[in-house]
Amino acid sequence: MLHKTIKIDPASINEDKVAREILGAFLKKNPDAILCTDLTYTDSIFSHSHNQQINYTFQSSKNVVFRRRKDQRAGLRYEIVDKCIGFGANGAIWHSMGNLKFVGDTLVFKTKERAIKQTERKRNNEEYTYSSGIRHLHIKPLSYSKFTKYNFMTMKFFHGLNLHQIIKDETTDNPLLTTDQRLQLTIDILEAVQKQIHDHGLLHLDIKAENIIVTDDKKVKIIDYFYSQKIGASNRMDFCGTLITMPQEQFHFDKIYPRTVKTDNYAVGKTLAELWHANPLVNKTKPVVGLSEQITFFRYAKKNTEYDYTNFFSNGLSSEHVEQLKNMLENLTRAIPDERWSIQQAVASLRSIQAERNIGIRHQLSSKTARI
Ligand SMILES: Nc1ncnc2c1ncn2[C@@H]1O[C@H](COP(=O)(O)OP(=O)(O)OP(=O)(O)O)[C@@H](O)[C@H]1O
Ligand SMILES: [Mg+2]
Repeated sequence: MLHKTIKIDPASINEDKVAREILGAFLKKNPDAILCTDLTYTDSIFSHSHNQQINYTFQSSKNVVFRRRKDQRAGLRYEIVDKCIGFGANGAIWHSMGNLKFVGDTLVFKTKERAIKQTERKRNNEEYTYSSGIRHLHIKPLSYSKFTKYNFMTMKFFHGLNLHQIIKDETTDNPLLTTDQRLQLTIDILEAVQKQIHDHGLLHLDIKAENIIVTDDKKVKIIDYFYSQKIGASNRMDFCGTLITMPQEQFHFDKIYPRTVKTDNYAVGKTLAELWHANPLVNKTKPVVGLSEQITFFRYAKKNTEYDYTNFFSNGLSSEHVEQLKNMLENLTRAIPDERWSIQQAVASLRSIQAERNIGIRHQLSSKTARI
């Protein structure tokens, strides 16, 4: 009897007959397989070319995660995970370069990028439930198997950067966005909160720069629905969100105010302050922190936010427009929920800045033309 040890690249099986045969036979026997690159797998197949049973040990050069298909369609898919794209407080995000499927008896690889969020099984599945309702995420059914303690949530992969990546190295002398792009992005973020979350009856409850992706074609996608809950429902979790963007009603010390859309508006205000380089006068901190830090932040959240405007992005803006922007940030982040601006109020204010800038440009152009 032959015994072989083989290294298999699951993304190359279309060109590698032996790898295709071995991996195909293995997945037929173990449909809900999760293959890890640091493990070896042993099996045997009958080889017609050798006319005998072959024992083999193989190792996959990429991680492979099975997933179910939408609408209870038959058959499974196998996502080929090639790199980690993010680590958060509660799990890892992976990039899938494509997937495997059986066409008849033959295993076939197809290129199709996706993102996979890996989370501990012991965590509830509500993130999956809420994410499934968000159309732009294109969520596939959740994968879980007896082989691991993790769930895998597969979704569309967005080419772009999260807002934190966009602004972290940016200074007013070295801006990545023009003033008009920054104004438009501010409107797009606000409207995304409205259209992608609130209009679907949801609260996000963890809006922050890392959870906003700006795609290469400048579309805003809000991700990470771990803390989401329905508008008007009783609080899903006592403590949720990220301290630097949390209003007072998101802390469990608060028993006065319910969580409403205004809770998200506060967080989006804090996030936009970051985009405009206005720093709240509070030290930044990690998302998971001790009780004393929570109490400190709760005290801050009970007061209206004071911003340090030293590095405020005012390139090419009139002093009136700078004041209007600061006013918007302060009104979105008022301590008392009822006093906070709605998304519509903030968008209206920004649109008026845009309109006045356009009139200003037209005025300059026409006075130049007049001189000619
Ligand atoms: N669908 C996606 N396409 C591209 N990049 C993504 C996608 N989903 C997540 N990312 C990247 O991975 C990072 C972390 O994702 P996410 O916020 O969902 O996880 P997390 O912070 O670990 O969440 P949680 O705290 O709920 O565990 C994001 O900031 C983003 O840069
Ligand atoms: Mg996140």
